[in-house]
Amino acid sequence: MSHPSVVDVFPDQPDGYEWIDGEPEFDASRHLQLEAPEESWSLAELGYSETFIERQASPTAMFSPARMLSDEGVTALHETMRLLRPHIRQVPDSHRATGYLRGTVFISRFIRDLCRNEDITAFASDLFGTPLVPHTMVYQQGHMNFAPRHISKPVDGWHYDFVGFDYVLMCHDPATYKGGDFKYFLGTREEGHAIVSRGDTIPDDRVVTPHFPGAGYACFMQGSAVYHCASPLEETAERASLVNAYVSLDVTKPDPTRTFFITPEGPYDWIEKEPETKHRYAEYARHTAWLGREKLSFLLSTLPLDADRDAALNALREAASCIERAIETLEIGPQHFEKMEELRRRQDKDLFGGE
Ligand SMILES: [Fe+2]
Repeated sequence: MSHPSVVDVFPDQPDGYEWIDGEPEFDASRHLQLEAPEESWSLAELGYSETFIERQASPTAMFSPARMLSDEGVTALHETMRLLRPHIRQVPDSHRATGYLRGTVFISRFIRDLCRNEDITAFASDLFGTPLVPHTMVYQQGHMNFAPRHISKPVDGWHYDFVGFDYVLMCHDPATYKGGDFKYFLGTREEGHAIVSRGDTIPDDRVVTPHFPGAGYACFMQGSAVYHCASPLEETAERASLVNAYVSLDVTKPDPTRTFFITPEGPYDWIEKEPETKHRYAEYARHTAWLGREKLSFLLSTLPLDADRDAALNALREAASCIERAIETLEIGPQHFEKMEELRRRQDKDLFGGE
């Protein structure tokens, strides 16, 4: 069952994908073991301004690891991952994470049902104090990162996410490998980005390395506002994480979702190699159509008939702004990473204020 708001948004399996055979069936009663995390950090603690915080759907930035899967759930996930292994994408070393899987919800019913499970969605909504639904850009559901080819490379470099809310689920017990630690930066994304882009190292005393007691634990965060990474492995090991994203139904706040379209990189043509890259145009348009519909419904239910001209104009502008932003992004089209990051930072600054 999906929330009525998104029931017609998630597309059916596109051409070119096939369900994997023989995977376990997801069963929430046996596979989940949701236990609240012990610690949290607020956006204020990270140094964000009141203006920024007021424009977010939740004042909470991130949590320490929460148990999500039971032992049986971890076993079922591992069995699914074994079947998914032939689908892992190995992309150029210049990319932030070089081994990953996208579009998992179109090839694994287990991952799809895990990512859209209502108990986990309600759990995440309670943690952040805002109603969430699984992300309407479905490639943001069940993205998986794997150990890179060369262990000298971080499993995932420092970054902040293109989505408002997500969790990082550890698929293996971190005690079984050295390095490969998931890390939070105790600062704003702008500050973290400034440190890394001038070639400096994020100071240790500003980093939290959450302790994951085992496989099946997840860190929930407002990924778009939390600068984070996964450090290099110190030895070759099996390591995987599953990232699942959510979007808030609170449409009074600006949408933190961003996307980008990338140009071919040398001989590696993303569109040819990855159908998900090609699908991103329609996916972004569909997400925007959903958001616009939610915003227009909100206008219909809240704008009184005696509203003055400014109030009516502002309400319409607010509803249309997400569509205008998507049109701008689509008009600009495929970009190299640096250009795409520039666009993203400008759009964020327009919406959330400068730091
Ligand atoms: Fe991330």
